[in-house]
Amino acid sequence: DTIKIFSPATVANVSCGFDVLGFCLDSVGDDMIIRKTKSKGITISKIEGYSLPLDPEENVAGVAGLAILKAAQVNFGFDIEIHKRIKPGSGIGSSSASASGTVYAINKLLGKPFNKTQLTAFAMKGEAVASGNEHADNIAPGLFGGFTLVKSLNPLEIIELPTPKELYVTIVHPQIEVKTSEARALLPKDISLKKGMAQWANVGSLVHGLHTSDYGLISRSLVDNIVEPHRKQLIPYFDEAKSLAIQSGALGVGISGSGPSIFALSQGEIKSKQVAKAFQNVYKSTTIDFKIYTSKIN
Ligand code: HSE
Repeated sequence: DTIKIFSPATVANVSCGFDVLGFCLDSVGDDMIIRKTKSKGITISKIEGYSLPLDPEENVAGVAGLAILKAAQVNFGFDIEIHKRIKPGSGIGSSSASASGTVYAINKLLGKPFNKTQLTAFAMKGEAVASGNEHADNIAPGLFGGFTLVKSLNPLEIIELPTPKELYVTIVHPQIEVKTSEARALLPKDISLKKGMAQWANVGSLVHGLHTSDYGLISRSLVDNIVEPHRKQLIPYFDEAKSLAIQSGALGVGISGSGPSIFALSQGEIKSKQVAKAFQNVYKSTTIDFKIYTSKIN
């Protein structure tokens, strides 16, 4: 009646796919322990690593847990323990890892009555607490793995995309906090048809590149002229980090989710390590603390 799980970090948006594209990291994430309890409802007994609310109604994991419990209609409950390694406000899906890990584990303890799309819907209730808005581009890759595309929210439809074998990600996380709600408030309400056209062409060609393992096409599609120009001001040394990473062989570089983390995709692990060095070279000469991760996408 107890389950221990690893809930992975995720990168949302992937340059051109604001609120719809995302992918899942292999080796960076939180550990969670979920226990069945006799009493009904959700409790959060422990959160290690970062200071977050223990009141389930105010916690993304708690709200997601309450959503799945409501649908399951059982006369018992669950306790959540979270060992957070993903810093909140990092841009690599910290809140969504807590929400998706919770619903994944509870579903397993219940005997898997719900499918992944239903789990995504429950976890989105939790994510909305953190970002002030329901979106699934971090949750879906966390629950399905690999690359996902959120085709629509209503009705909720998630498409699983293939991951080319040699695709690696490098992430630099400058240790400043960017609140998703604030990063969303910076965005324009309307965009021009011209910008829209370029963006959906890139989403289509990125998806095609993933299907055909065409690394050149993937590289040419990792462009974002809608969101990045508004948000990059929140991330110190973004332009320097991007251009040095590209010079070091990255296929493309963009803001991870709503930032401040920056992601770079590379073909092969060696390139991803070279890109890590480039990121390091940019930030080591600044006063900003930073962390760097490299991972396979899985
Ligand atoms: N798509 C979301 C955004 C991801 O960019 O605001 C962060 O939760």
